[in-house]
Amino acid sequence: MRLDKFLSDATAYSRKELKTMIRRGQVTVNGSVVRGPEQQVGEDAAVTVNGTEVRYRKFVYLMMNKPAGFISATEDGNAPVVTELLPEEYKHFNVFPAGRLDKDTQGLLILTNDGAFGHQVTSPRRQVWKRYFATLDRPAESADCAAFEQPMDLGDFIAAPGRLYICRNAAEVYVEIAEGKFHQVKRMCEKIGKKVVTLKRCAIGGVVLDESLGSGECRELTPAELELIVQGTLPELAVTAKV
Ligand code: URA
Repeated sequence: MRLDKFLSDATAYSRKELKTMIRRGQVTVNGSVVRGPEQQVGEDAAVTVNGTEVRYRKFVYLMMNKPAGFISATEDGNAPVVTELLPEEYKHFNVFPAGRLDKDTQGLLILTNDGAFGHQVTSPRRQVWKRYFATLDRPAESADCAAFEQPMDLGDFIAAPGRLYICRNAAEVYVEIAEGKFHQVKRMCEKIGKKVVTLKRCAIGGVVLDESLGSGECRELTPAELELIVQGTLPELAVTAKV
């Protein structure tokens, strides 16, 4: 690929700024100053800008601990959006949320600029399971678990069977579903006569929210975690959390 394309994918500089910097001799490729933006380089070329090494990459994959109060979008006329929380180094990648959480929902949100990966995470056909922790306005009962394990008629669509685990405090539950229709967890809980008071996503496929991330913080997902996400199977829920 062209040197200026390599650098615009991998850095926050604009193509125009990069062309100027290259012409001024601020960029080296494999140890030599290169002054032509059109110079062809491979993805593994050793490139520096002002002496700092630049690693090529096109896609980034981030896990965010989404706070309540932010919309899962890249822009919104009124409310704050999750991409405003990104550290500066990720802003130029134009990531988007792979699957939405409601404004008042917290927890694990994946952000990427890889559309194919985003589709794998969200498509119901891929069966990537998601786990949520919810507090309810009243205790759940064992009959509610049975209701979750059947297809559930929500009016405009039939939710595929999910799972409900009731905690020792029966107004706290874990909900597991492989779909992600608008307000699905809240609507499924409503269907069993309970209102969701707070909602947090804890896991997507085999990856659980990194609890070392403060609210609004994010970190990159490892290649192993990306694999665990697309495999789609949730890790075993801690036995102590179940009834
Ligand atoms: N289900 C909901 O109801 N809300 C969310 O944010 C996610 C799943």
